[in-house]
Amino acid sequence: MLNEVIENTKLSDIVVRMVIEAPDIADTRKAGQFVVLMIDEKGERIPLTIVDSDAAKGTLAIIYQVVGKTTAQLAEMRAGDRLFSVLGPLGRPTEIENFGTVVSVGGGVGIGVAYPITKALKEAGNKVISIIGARTKNILILEEELKAISDKLLISTDDGSYGHHGFVSDILQNLITSGEKIDRVYAIGPVPMMRVVCEVTRPHKIPTVVSLNPIMVDATGMCGACRVAVGGKTQFACVDGPEFDGHEVDFALLATRLRMYCDQEKQATESTRCTCHER
Ligand SMILES: Cc1cc2nc3c(=O)[nH]c(=O)nc-3n(C[C@H](O)[C@H](O)[C@H](O)COP(=O)(O)OP(=O)(O)OC[C@H]3O[C@@H](n4cnc5c(N)ncnc54)[C@H](O)[C@@H]3O)c2cc1C
Ligand code: FES
Repeated sequence: MLNEVIENTKLSDIVVRMVIEAPDIADTRKAGQFVVLMIDEKGERIPLTIVDSDAAKGTLAIIYQVVGKTTAQLAEMRAGDRLFSVLGPLGRPTEIENFGTVVSVGGGVGIGVAYPITKALKEAGNKVISIIGARTKNILILEEELKAISDKLLISTDDGSYGHHGFVSDILQNLITSGEKIDRVYAIGPVPMMRVVCEVTRPHKIPTVVSLNPIMVDATGMCGACRVAVGGKTQFACVDGPEFDGHEVDFALLATRLRMYCDQEKQATESTRCTCHER
């Protein structure tokens, strides 16, 4: 079935929010799940997190950063255009309970991935502290949306153009040092960010969930492309994840595997700056 693009709106210079007609997925999806979409029959299959949905309208929303060929093509689409396929919902939903006080940490486009999880945690009765960060102010997304569903929202930028000058992990460290009792942390963003957040929480034994973004191909557990090492065991992020215990994840292996096709991706994009090395 071809899926109609309802909206495709820029949130910043590099991040776009797309609303897609996909009634079956909108009906059943849960926080933490994703779709795999194809722009045309010969196109690449790319996984993107379901950020929101409207079951009554039969639509779902995704937020994507333009990093290469397919996301650049996606950004060119207009309302009324059609995607070749949208497959989902995929992946295990986030485990949502009232844990007490949870901190949701989102970096870059990871803020979009963190949003539905943060919303579900708030609806389950948790006290929610959100920490969001970006390289600079004009690429920070979803500030108002997260303020509306968080008990407290804290912001950082790498260049100090807005909020704390530094990283989201500094803010988390300060919260812990100030004596805030934290029952669980969710960290979603670039691999180095998730790794540092896990090192901040590890000495305090605060359970920390990360959402991993390895390269996926079939997203059905068959091809092995998305394999990650968690607690010394091989897991397939598409069916066993994408969320895992951050204290058990081999982040070095994940970073290496994400760079595996960098040269081919650079060739495919040519006119688009390749950001693989930043992941
Ligand atoms: C479960 C999951 C959820 C994701 N959710 C989001 C999201 O909500 N928003 C968002 O902006 N990005 C998300 N991503 C990453 C997104 O899939 C990639 O940015 C996208 O595939 C890049 O494609 P491209 O052709 O534009 O770039 P390319 O130039 O092909 O690749 C650029 C980089 O993107 C990554 N990538 C490329 N192909 C894939 C692939 N098939 N699967 C996974 N990563 C790939 C690699 O790190 C690569 O180095 C998610 C990834 C996973 C695994
Ligand atoms: S993408 Fe093929 S096994 Fe996960």
